[in-house]
Amino acid sequence: MKSAILLCLFATVFAGKSPRLKFVVHEPSRFHFNKPENYISMYHDEGSDTLYVGAQAMIYVLTFTDRGVRDLQIPAASDQTAIDTCKAKAAPLELECDNFITVIQKVNDKFIVCGTNAGSPRCWMLVNDTVLTDVQGVGQIASPSDISPPYPSQKSISLPADGSLYSAMSSVGGHAGSIRRTFGSQKLLKTENVWLLNPQFAGAAIIPSPLKDKEEIYFFFSEFNKTARVDEEPYRARIGRVCTVDEGGVKALLAESWTTFMKARMMCGAGNTQQQYNNLKQAVVLTAQDNRAGVLYGLFSNAWGRTVICAYSIKEIDQAFSTSKLKGYSSSFMGNRPGMCVRKNSTAGGHNDMRTLGVIRYHPEIENVILPVGVAPLDLPTDDQITHTVADIVLAVNDEHYSVIYLGTEQGKLLKVLHTNEEVFIISQYSMFHNKGPVLNMAIDSQKGHLYVGTAMEVQRLPVADCSRYGDTCRECILSRDPYCGWDRARRKCIAIPPGYNVTTGALIQNLDYSNSSVCGEAAALKQRRTSPKEVVVPYNTSIFLPCPVRSFHATYRWEKDNCIKNYPCLFSGDFCVLGPLMDTPLKEGVFRCMATEDGFKVEVISFRLLNDGRLLAASLASTLGPSLLLAMATLWLH
Ligand SMILES: *[C@@H]1O[C@H](CO)[C@@H](O)[C@H](O)[C@H]1NC(C)=O
Ligand SMILES: *[C@@H]1O[C@H](CO)[C@@H](O)[C@H](O)[C@H]1NC(C)=O
Ligand SMILES: *[C@@H]1O[C@H](CO)[C@@H](O)[C@H](O)[C@H]1NC(C)=O
Ligand SMILES: *[C@@H]1O[C@H](CO)[C@@H](O)[C@H](O)[C@H]1NC(C)=O
Ligand SMILES: *[C@@H]1O[C@H](CO)[C@@H](O)[C@H](O)[C@H]1NC(C)=O
Ligand SMILES: *[C@@H]1O[C@H](CO)[C@@H](O)[C@H](O)[C@H]1NC(C)=O
Repeated sequence: MKSAILLCLFATVFAGKSPRLKFVVHEPSRFHFNKPENYISMYHDEGSDTLYVGAQAMIYVLTFTDRGVRDLQIPAASDQTAIDTCKAKAAPLELECDNFITVIQKVNDKFIVCGTNAGSPRCWMLVNDTVLTDVQGVGQIASPSDISPPYPSQKSISLPADGSLYSAMSSVGGHAGSIRRTFGSQKLLKTENVWLLNPQFAGAAIIPSPLKDKEEIYFFFSEFNKTARVDEEPYRARIGRVCTVDEGGVKALLAESWTTFMKARMMCGAGNTQQQYNNLKQAVVLTAQDNRAGVLYGLFSNAWGRTVICAYSIKEIDQAFSTSKLKGYSSSFMGNRPGMCVRKNSTAGGHNDMRTLGVIRYHPEIENVILPVGVAPLDLPTDDQITHTVADIVLAVNDEHYSVIYLGTEQGKLLKVLHTNEEVFIISQYSMFHNKGPVLNMAIDSQKGHLYVGTAMEVQRLPVADCSRYGDTCRECILSRDPYCGWDRARRKCIAIPPGYNVTTGALIQNLDYSNSSVCGEAAALKQRRTSPKEVVVPYNTSIFLPCPVRSFHATYRWEKDNCIKNYPCLFSGDFCVLGPLMDTPLKEGVFRCMATEDGFKVEVISFRLLNDGRLLAASLASTLGPSLLLAMATLWLH
């Protein structure tokens, strides 16, 4: 029994990759669905307070304020005949025989909405935020079944870019799966079926370029080999890319297809080991405005359903696509390299010569394999599966950009993670949902500093810069390593970095690269700081437990007696480091101090003075100590 408690203690104390802080958020702005919504799509315009949520036969237009959420519900039912036909066909699940809104996107200032419509997808336009009308007078649009899947459990991706809509449809049943341009004034294009092997899409991103003509779109997906043997990995993670200037081939070759499609294999695993994560579930990209630098975060799982995140350099991917050999092609290229972004009418010839088109048609895969930064998955906690991720890029006080990733989990928690070149640092964990279902979807607004998080029961909005949570000392502010927050020297407060902050003024301090608060210059003060001991009278022959609240899970907590000749470990740790009558702990008389060591400094958290008095009863003990001790004791007694 005792050894079990100890094991658990060491597991928690030494897990450096645990969140440093844990917060329980009680009253953020939140919206509750009337019924569980197991599939939700989201659309959010940066800088606005409105979130569009596509759900079952309903579009919710949610407007968030600091006081609450205003909602507008737009019914989007499918007709009864479609539902009856769907049920008769015995679709994947009868429950999916309804209109699930899978796509809400704004293209050329027009809202395109598409839904599953009980197995026969349909699209509408959302007008004045209130009415769904038929799609009309907007140029060309592909068949709705190329934009929305027929059932909500099948994943599709849609991305507006440059006045067009790009859609990726996962393979299902008899459908091969495709990447298409589905809406807009440019020519509607598609992938050739042989280019993709049962793709399951995970994300898409625009890769900007200083030259508009060189702009690309990356699609992220897993391919599934149905005929793989049981002992073989059936999944392969892939990146596919096309150019936004692509206008298709010539009549005889690739007439309706991309002429710039290329794909690459991505690996996520530790070096060349067998431990590879091949099933790419979701992907997000952070890029600078007009630059090909940036980072791709992929959420992968393995055959046992364990999830990890791998990070990739966009520069390296771009390099691979522009220089790698093509699989199965060994001749040299004539003129332009196949697949590079060139306008069809350009004097350079475009891709219209048959030979270049033929290379792309038959050899779209590059030989180079894309490996993650640091060759291994990010070092993240493993006790909960990651279900969704978004990322943000933050301009820090040192005028450099830092990546922050937000990971939603199976148990409805949210991790805020700083990713620097050297490492990941888990800033905090938020528990915020009334119901502990998995995080299904998220949207981030970097401009306004908001994060929207959705589960089947509710949608909440959190501020990304929540600096007052870190406490009111410089050390606590710096050790948080939150790139959104800095210590204001003048006001002596941990504050959000204001927009347009002038770096040269030096008004704010931060240290994101290492957990080191020496910039605060508080070392001497920390050594001196003492708390005034709370008095506890110990009744004769009673066991007593002293609780010390754990704030930083990266600190080491220890108890010291009197003048610290000897120190004692926590008997039990979690949200409290509890000192109890274990081994040779003389828990009878004297002053016991709880010390937290982090960043090379030992800080006193709480202290108790024990007095031995046989006549007093346990009741008086409770009133002296307050609820924290009782809580800790109750937890202990349950074990
Ligand atoms: C949208 O609003 C405009 C101006 O208020 C109005 O003229 C138009 O009829 C509305 N459209 C629909 C479809 O309700
Ligand atoms: C799928 O797996 C089978 C069995 O290993 C293999 O023969 C086949 O080539 C694979 N297909 C592809 C497209 O890799
Ligand atoms: C190619 O077409 C674009 C727009 O379609 C036009 O702006 C450009 O001048 C054309 N270039 C040539 C060389 O014809
Ligand atoms: C920033 O502050 C410095 C001096 O404190 C000043 O010279 C400089 O013009 C300021 N820069 C901006 C962009 O305001
Ligand atoms: C005191 O503790 C001892 C050993 O734990 C036990 O035998 C004894 O009965 C206890 N006395 C009282 C008064 O509880
Ligand atoms: C923190 O940084 C200071 C100055 O760079 C250095 O002297 C000190 O050793 C560092 N502390 C730790 C714990 O690394």
